[in-house]
Amino acid sequence: SAALQKYHVIALIEEFEEELKTMSGTCMDIGCGPGDITKNIVLPALDKSAVMIGTDILEDMINCANKKYSEDARIIFEVLDVQTKYLPKKYISEFNHIFSFYALHWCSDIR
Ligand SMILES: C[S@@+](CC[C@H](N)C(=O)[O-])C[C@H]1O[C@@H](n2cnc3c(N)ncnc32)[C@H](O)[C@@H]1O
Repeated sequence: SAALQKYHVIALIEEFEEELKTMSGTCMDIGCGPGDITKNIVLPALDKSAVMIGTDILEDMINCANKKYSEDARIIFEVLDVQTKYLPKKYISEFNHIFSFYALHWCSDIR
């Protein structure tokens, strides 16, 4: 059911392959859904030392992602409403790179 997202994310990853390879540190994928694209397409495109936190507003998505991918030490998934006005301190200035695919159009307050 995510074929369209997958197709376009792969196209983007291929377009920016060289830049992505150099990206390391702590990364976030906003609106990661069930985590498949985050884990299987985005993370492998980054530097091997990069770690990823996938975040989504829906607890069910995050539970599903953590259940599937908990064995990989490079990735964890956490519930986060990116539109919150009260961003927890642990997310402030802690990320080297932030990605988002097919999620920000759901947000009415981009700022
Ligand atoms: C179409 S899915 C995209 C999932 C994944 N990024 C992909 O490309 O397959 C959009 C996701 O954005 C999440 N989302 C919507 N509003 C959000 C918000 N305010 N904060 C975080 N995630 C949000 C939804 O729960 C949903 O899982």
